[in-house]
Amino acid sequence: MKIAVPKERRPHETRVAATPESVKKLKGLGFDIVIESGAGEAAAYLDRAYAEAGAEIAPDAASALRDADVVFKVQRPMMADEGLDEVALMKRGAVLLAPLGAMVNKALVDALMTSRISAFALELTPRITRAQSMDVLSSQANLAGYKAVIDCAAAFTRAFPQMMTPAGTVVPARVFIMGVGVAGLQAIATARRLGAIVTATDVRPATKEQVQSLGAKFVAVEDEEFKAAETAGGYAKEMSAEYRAKQAALVAEHIKTQDIVVTTALIPGRKAPVLVSEEMVTSMKPGSVILDMAVEQGGNCPLSRQGETVMHNGVKIIGPWNLPASLATDASNLFARNLLAFVTPLVDKETKAIKLNMDDEVVKGALITHDGAIVHPQLQPAE
Ligand code: NAI
Repeated sequence: MKIAVPKERRPHETRVAATPESVKKLKGLGFDIVIESGAGEAAAYLDRAYAEAGAEIAPDAASALRDADVVFKVQRPMMADEGLDEVALMKRGAVLLAPLGAMVNKALVDALMTSRISAFALELTPRITRAQSMDVLSSQANLAGYKAVIDCAAAFTRAFPQMMTPAGTVVPARVFIMGVGVAGLQAIATARRLGAIVTATDVRPATKEQVQSLGAKFVAVEDEEFKAAETAGGYAKEMSAEYRAKQAALVAEHIKTQDIVVTTALIPGRKAPVLVSEEMVTSMKPGSVILDMAVEQGGNCPLSRQGETVMHNGVKIIGPWNLPASLATDASNLFARNLLAFVTPLVDKETKAIKLNMDDEVVKGALITHDGAIVHPQLQPAE
């Protein structure tokens, strides 16, 4: 059984789906590994380190993918109209493990089906305890939450911690984190470590205690709707117009006094909720910084633009491209460990070959195409 790891070719991507460490462990499971030359370079993993770990180095994507039974990727494969047709380079019947954005990339799902790829859309991995170590959304969001605060600190023209100096006191920064999922929690912890005064908000009641345990203050409209706002999968529900209006009024008052705002609020399968209106930005002090982590899903602030820092009334609004990719070494390391955890239970212990158990909760949750058909229930055409 051979696993191929091609170089990521999408813009702003610097991560790689295997590291020398994961190569060694995958070999221990009985796989041969082929890495496209240069695949890990931007993440500081060089060809020679992969070779020392026992991988074969292929000169290009075509030779890496040609006879691979399993393909690991950080980004969804490209199709003919995007440059290199990575789907076409994969062997029929190969197993693909990658985040695919399966709910929105219909053409890709169709291409994977036609090419008879068994594709796992990693973003659909169920949020059950057993699958925590496989969860690429979590591992990458953790690092992104940290980096968001670091980038805000770099863009801020003041200091984060309080400092007593003979020339007077430097006041601490006030940091407001909107959305307390995996990224938000790490953002709170990072801002606290830097000495800021931190507040945070979310619509899921479970987050209140988490915020407080990190030494931050929780700010939210805690009505009956709030008390029921979490799905069984641990995600946020879309809130009613009435709740959103109450939430906006509370946030509008609070945000005026904040120096840094990091927004991370997402609702799976939907456009990100607008939480910071233009009016709210205008009410903030010049020099304040907003970083919109939801910019790719439409943004929590209507003024943010991906890849740009927009100035509005003296407030900087940062729309990052790909935060995990800016920590490529750690992000690749965690991603590679997620894939190792994902693939391990798919290997039949006796034959050392991949054997998909269609009754397994993780397989059922994340497998989208198999044997020339679309198999995921959420991707079936409406009756
Ligand atoms: P996410 O990236 O989908 O959303 C980020 C945050 O935004 C969430 O906390 C959400 O409640 C919040 N949000 C949504 N709409 C909002 C609004 N209008 N106002 C304020 N906040 C809003 O969430 P993420 O980080 O992927 O995970 C959510 C939770 O899922 C985690 O905190 C955890 O409890 C659970 N989880 C479970 C895992 C497992 O058991 N395998 C793995 C990872 C997460």
